[in-house]
Amino acid sequence: MKVRAKLGGRAFFVYDKTKVLKGVKEMKIGIDKIGFFTSHLFVDMKELAFARAEDPNKYLIGIGQSKMAVIPPSQDVVTMAANAAARILTTADKEQISYVIFATESGIDNSKATAVYLARLLGLKKEIRAIELKQACYGATAGIQLARGFVALNPDSKVLVIAADNARYGIKSPGEPTQGGGAVALLIGTNPQILALEDGSTAYTQDIMDFWRPLGKNEALVDGRYSEDVYLNFFSHVWQAYLDKTGYQLGDFAALLFHLPYTKMGLKALRIALKDARPDEAVNFVQEFEHARTFNREVGNLYTGSLYLSLLSLLFNSEKLRAGQRIGLFSYGSGAEAEFYSGIVQPNFKQGLMNVNYLQVLNERQEVSVSEYEKLYQQHLFSAQEGRVAYDTDPARYFFAGISDFKRQYQEK
Ligand code: HMG
Repeated sequence: MKVRAKLGGRAFFVYDKTKVLKGVKEMKIGIDKIGFFTSHLFVDMKELAFARAEDPNKYLIGIGQSKMAVIPPSQDVVTMAANAAARILTTADKEQISYVIFATESGIDNSKATAVYLARLLGLKKEIRAIELKQACYGATAGIQLARGFVALNPDSKVLVIAADNARYGIKSPGEPTQGGGAVALLIGTNPQILALEDGSTAYTQDIMDFWRPLGKNEALVDGRYSEDVYLNFFSHVWQAYLDKTGYQLGDFAALLFHLPYTKMGLKALRIALKDARPDEAVNFVQEFEHARTFNREVGNLYTGSLYLSLLSLLFNSEKLRAGQRIGLFSYGSGAEAEFYSGIVQPNFKQGLMNVNYLQVLNERQEVSVSEYEKLYQQHLFSAQEGRVAYDTDPARYFFAGISDFKRQYQEK
């Protein structure tokens, strides 16, 4: 990459930018492993519909959700992230990780980054960088793009990107059936096992008040219908810009993935992409979309992790997905920011899931009644207060034990 140059009779070396860029372009960088965690508790959407005097089909079909994760006070974004990352990281990975990028909009401190707590809990080495990122549900995509750039400059390094959130609206509010929570851990590196990221993504940002959470509030404020319109407008914009920029057409993709605040939202965006599709082509995209929303249906909104849970769901559930195929990913975060990008499925993509049977993980969760969920929801409001949190019944490896002297206490079983 270095070339010899001469200035004032003295020879010295400079970097040849074109050769550096060519090297970066030839290097495959992307998602090497994906791990997911949600709590062991859920509410059945039919039960929630009965309790709210709604027709269950409004939630099951109209919203497109079957179950909703209930996050107990013994879990927060740090512990959920640790539980997700522990599912994928080997000792060798931990040695190679030199950057932790933690995307969340449910942070637990105004100063200290969640990534610093996480790095200690996971036993990562101390010679690393650890930061927190925020831009609503778009945060993890920003993290992946930063990680890609970092790995291009440091090809021997791996970056751990975390997407973790507890999605809360208000009890009995219209947003209530679109709550949920959990964490996705993504390991980014060279020669990835799952998805090699491609060039040519398109982004769009505009200052919009569709969803926000003012300081001091535990629940988000949202203009629900408006937020759907903004999501769809942003999708149309970055999708068309991406097609114009790359010259790709719908047929160049094997599947399209979406941020899924609830699964019907992604279906609405997919319909926009399929408006001129041949019927056989459309059937294929809809089938893959069903695989991609299977897990999201069971968990609810993860905020910044939703798109990546959907990717995991597709990789786990699709029977047709093959190495060499292109997947398109639409990331959206209220406020608002969107990006469309793509990646190529790699031959060992199943291995990147580390043999975790997520169907079993989700099926083994415990159902709570609507009144138990409401109690847990209220307790969570006070989890910023001093004292011990009840964690004895939480089976997760990492848990939040309470606050002592304003310091959060994290423990491992
Ligand atoms: P709502 O007003 O209670 O529901 O709120 P609705 O009356 O609009 O009904 C919802 C759908 O169910 C409709 O279908 C109904 O027709 C249908 P649609 O017109 O949308 O296709 N429906 C039925 N279907 C079958 N059988 C029935 C039946 N009854 C009704 N019997 C809303 C819905 C989504 C607005 C609300 O839940 C909400 O405010 N949610 C939170 C906001 C949200 O998720 N917005 C999504 C876009 S913004 C985003 O994705 C970013 C975000 O993740 C945050 C971040 O970035 O950090 C939220």
